[in-house]
Amino acid sequence: MPPMQSANAKVKHTESAMLRDVVEGLSLEQKQLPSKYFYDTTGSRYFDEICNLEEYYPYRTELGMLPAIAKDLSHMLQEPCDIVEFGAGSLVKVRLLLQNMPQIRRFLPIDIAGDHLRSAAAELQREFPRLDIQAIEADFSQRVELPDRNSVKKLGFFPGSTIGNFSPQEAVAFLDRARQSLGEGALLLIGVDTKKSPEVLHSAYNDSLGVTKKFNRNLLAHINRETGADFDVEKFDHYAFYNPGRGRIEMHLISREQQVVTVEDYQFEFSQGENIHTENSHKYTPAEFLNLAGQAGWRGVRKWLAARQLFCVHLLQAGG
Ligand code: AVI
Repeated sequence: MPPMQSANAKVKHTESAMLRDVVEGLSLEQKQLPSKYFYDTTGSRYFDEICNLEEYYPYRTELGMLPAIAKDLSHMLQEPCDIVEFGAGSLVKVRLLLQNMPQIRRFLPIDIAGDHLRSAAAELQREFPRLDIQAIEADFSQRVELPDRNSVKKLGFFPGSTIGNFSPQEAVAFLDRARQSLGEGALLLIGVDTKKSPEVLHSAYNDSLGVTKKFNRNLLAHINRETGADFDVEKFDHYAFYNPGRGRIEMHLISREQQVVTVEDYQFEFSQGENIHTENSHKYTPAEFLNLAGQAGWRGVRKWLAARQLFCVHLLQAGG
């Protein structure tokens, strides 16, 4: 259903990137909203709750793997190194590297949420007083220039299978940019969720406590607050399923009834049962992921696979 104003009309009253994204996304034949808008304060809190859920295996599986991986890395890397974390957030996982890798001299966490990043970095500094920490407020979906470029080896860190929230093409573009930011000879430690039984995947995104449902619906509340839109959150159902053809979990919000939503000067009609596509979470076999990384100029050096192949952490090196 087209919007009542033209999809291509310019957004008149505000320069807000979110407003532009929302109007564009809701104007598509298949309505969609960008998953990056999940993460306001409430959404970030829901995501932390998701990470503590029994059903959401990726977080806890990767966390459990990291101390042993860090010890292996410490043996493999004799020279001092700088660690650069993309989308660093609360800095929980990097602690496991720092605790086990004395050769890390400098830590460069990159995150778009500057205030949150600086307070997490200040807390980390108290725990690791000798570590040089330089927080970088930036959007890692764009190319990031590292400050004070030096010749010290760079170890990039991108945990949590956040790479899966990009399309495969976007993932290659991100990996390419990361290689350019990190420089020649760099390494990248990256957590990637694997393909597995659809039941396990299904429960991870349809938890029994309904936290993922709240996380998904909060996207609408966030958009209401930032753009003045009038989504009635209760009138949308959470729907997540594994799409085996695309190798991804898809999250959607489904309109419970026929309704009209107003966003500034725009009105969007929803028929009963119509869906908004809100997130993809791609799952890759280790071979599929290495193929993707190869397209961006990285080669696999080593991989750590969790028990029952639940999750995979890859170590990549720049240069084919
Ligand atoms: C952040 N990202 C890796 C999570 C995922 O699994 O794709 C976001 C998430 N969506 C629903 N649950 C968790």
